[in-house]
Amino acid sequence: MSANISQQYTGAAPVPDRPAAYTPSLAIKLAVIYPGQDDSLPFQQLAERLGVPLYESLNSETPEEFFLTRRDGCLKLLDKELLKKGGLAVDIEPRNGEQRSWPAPKDGALAQALGRKTKTVIDATTGWGQDSLHIFRMGYELLCIERSPVMAELLADGFARLAQQDWMQRLNLCPPLLLQGNAIDLLVNLENQPDCIYLDPMFPPKRKKSALAKKSMMVLRDLLGDDQDKEQLFEAALKAAEKRVVVKSPDYAEPLGGKPSQSFQGKLLRYDVYLKN
Ligand SMILES: C[S@@+](CC[C@H](N)C(=O)[O-])C[C@H]1O[C@@H](n2cnc3c(N)ncnc32)[C@H](O)[C@@H]1O
Repeated sequence: MSANISQQYTGAAPVPDRPAAYTPSLAIKLAVIYPGQDDSLPFQQLAERLGVPLYESLNSETPEEFFLTRRDGCLKLLDKELLKKGGLAVDIEPRNGEQRSWPAPKDGALAQALGRKTKTVIDATTGWGQDSLHIFRMGYELLCIERSPVMAELLADGFARLAQQDWMQRLNLCPPLLLQGNAIDLLVNLENQPDCIYLDPMFPPKRKKSALAKKSMMVLRDLLGDDQDKEQLFEAALKAAEKRVVVKSPDYAEPLGGKPSQSFQGKLLRYDVYLKN
């Protein structure tokens, strides 16, 4: 497998050229808002791709709970509470305490869990892309998978903004490749096995509304619900990975795949490592 990070790690064979059809149960929840001043075509296309309505303005009768629109140069997800506050986009800035160089040092619990010899990683539950971007900035070759077409649109926008960053262009780097689809299916068709598959599925919260839960994760949970098929995803990941599967879990949750080979403790969470062979 190529170690050249400027070439995207493609791992899986088919790259869908457009997201799969939106599921009807979600379609009633979300709409696209055309903010007025820009070209309307990309907004029409986005609404068509997702199979959801396009609005130019909202009123109290608007039935949807979530909205996608462009603000401050980013594609943003809003709920009714966020409409006046700004909204949520994929944050491409390094997290607090993360070194602003590339590749950033491979230290901390996540890097320990990924393993010293690991080069290629698939993040099969990309979500807001925060773990993916951390993994990418540490210099691993990364392929991202996300099944929600809404999150895939937000990620594609974030990765496009990442590609425009000076440091990315100076270093001739490409953002990670993103596949939209269910990882349980996509992991079966891999051409190249990754060293490691990383999983961070949605676990039921300990309490209904945790004061500690980030707004971005609360919105994700409200939009998508818990990932009920995480055991199946774990089984698929264990088959597809060459060397290890890493599962990020809240510290109160039982290990997803039974007793792990190793565990690394983070703040209120754990990285459980399942080694193969
Ligand atoms: C808790 S979030 C991940 C957060 C992410 N680690 C981050 O740093 O932002 C879980 C995400 O995994 C996605 N997901 C869960 N099961 C999946 C599957 N089988 N295939 C692809 N994506 C999946 C969900 O749609 C959701 O967006």
